[in-house]
Amino acid sequence: MEVKKKEIAEEPEDCGCGVTRRQVMVGAAVGTAALAASGLVTGKPAIAGSMDGYPRKLIGTVSGLSTDQPQVFTYPQDAPSIFRSALVKLGVPAVDGVGPEGDIVAFNGRCPHQGGELVPEDDTLRYDGASKTMGPCPWHLSTFDVSNEGMITSAHSTQNLPQIVLEVEGDNIYAVGVKGLIYGMPSNLMQVS
Ligand code: FES
Repeated sequence: MEVKKKEIAEEPEDCGCGVTRRQVMVGAAVGTAALAASGLVTGKPAIAGSMDGYPRKLIGTVSGLSTDQPQVFTYPQDAPSIFRSALVKLGVPAVDGVGPEGDIVAFNGRCPHQGGELVPEDDTLRYDGASKTMGPCPWHLSTFDVSNEGMITSAHSTQNLPQIVLEVEGDNIYAVGVKGLIYGMPSNLMQVS
């Protein structure tokens, strides 16, 4: 399709989020039917082959989650605070949600606009169960729809909230990658001391 070619041509060689242009092209070549057949729609990473280098970290259990009760974890590194993230069972199906109901998602907690904290260390986590959003950001009020890839719903951010890619194995939930660049990082996988 003409539109798809244009998108691929404008994709940078390495956006810093672990997705190269080649990997995007490979992902684009895989049709919806192939994804369904391969099991990728059941909780595997949504972008085939793009999560190379990310650790596989146990972050929670399906049975340990209650609807609209977020749990805090850090990923892909344990510190500093820019890696604080929220794991939440939405109670409604979500884009790239995992678990039996496809409603478990996770997002990094730094606002992509200028780094406002949505998952601060004092645990005043900014999540609203009624609207399935994270925010508003304490700095300029950006709000993100976590049922729909962290899409901005209001205010200043021009990027989605980075979504943590999840896998479920038995009752365990693992973080296996990140879609989008975490605020302040030239690369999500760059080691921060
Ligand atoms: S830093 Fe979040 S809206 Fe500006």
